[in-house]
Amino acid sequence: MAIRNVGVAGCGLMGGGIAQTCAQSGYETVVREVNQQLLDKGMARINEAWDMLAAKGKITRGQVDEYRARLHGTLDLADFADCDLVIEAVIENMEEKLRLFPALDHIVKPGALLLTNTSSLNVTQMGAVTKRPDKVCGLHQNRARMPLLSKQGHPGAFLIRWLGWGGQHIALRSCSYSHRSDELGYRTDG
Ligand SMILES: NC(=O)c1ccc[n+]([C@@H]2O[C@H](COP(=O)([O-])OP(=O)(O)OC[C@H]3O[C@@H](n4cnc5c(N)ncnc54)[C@H](O)[C@@H]3O)[C@@H](O)[C@H]2O)c1
Repeated sequence: MAIRNVGVAGCGLMGGGIAQTCAQSGYETVVREVNQQLLDKGMARINEAWDMLAAKGKITRGQVDEYRARLHGTLDLADFADCDLVIEAVIENMEEKLRLFPALDHIVKPGALLLTNTSSLNVTQMGAVTKRPDKVCGLHQNRARMPLLSKQGHPGAFLIRWLGWGGQHIALRSCSYSHRSDELGYRTDG
């Protein structure tokens, strides 16, 4: 399944960075927060980052406009319905994650991947509260440019370590899911 639409739950430090990276990498991205104030704060942080990159000449104003057009903020989980991939980056609290995963499972289209950016919590447990445990994976951002893809928890769940950060070397740049081999594949252009 090709990944075109990405959802990000949580627009805090990690969720905001992930949403920024996804939009920069060409994905239609929708990021969800729990209230308007937090959403505005998260979106402002992303927009400031793009303005700063443009001011330094690292990206053009045209690119900033493109990225902004691809990024949509929402308070409504239902806006994840058409996502091919949803990345959960809410607070590191298992109760919160165990509330969110069944809700995502209910809303997001069948076959879509549900990833968690948890640092330390059990991914298998999150998969177990959904009807698609084989599509629940762990995602971990890694600043070191080391391509790592390792299994965690459920046999179908992978921990993905991103190669870099900031839009130039993105593991998700070309990302596809193989139902036959139950593998998440990705290519980087870095
Ligand atoms: N290297 C890494 O991959 C790495 C590094 C740091 C943190 N993390 C993990 O990333 C996750 C987020 O960490 P953070 O530092 O961004 O936290 P944060 O507190 O900055 O942001 C979390 C955000 O999630 C929001 N939120 C809470 N419940 C929500 C829900 N149901 N739907 C949408 N948004 C919701 C909160 O309002 C908050 O803004 C945690 O699980 C953390 O352990 C991973």
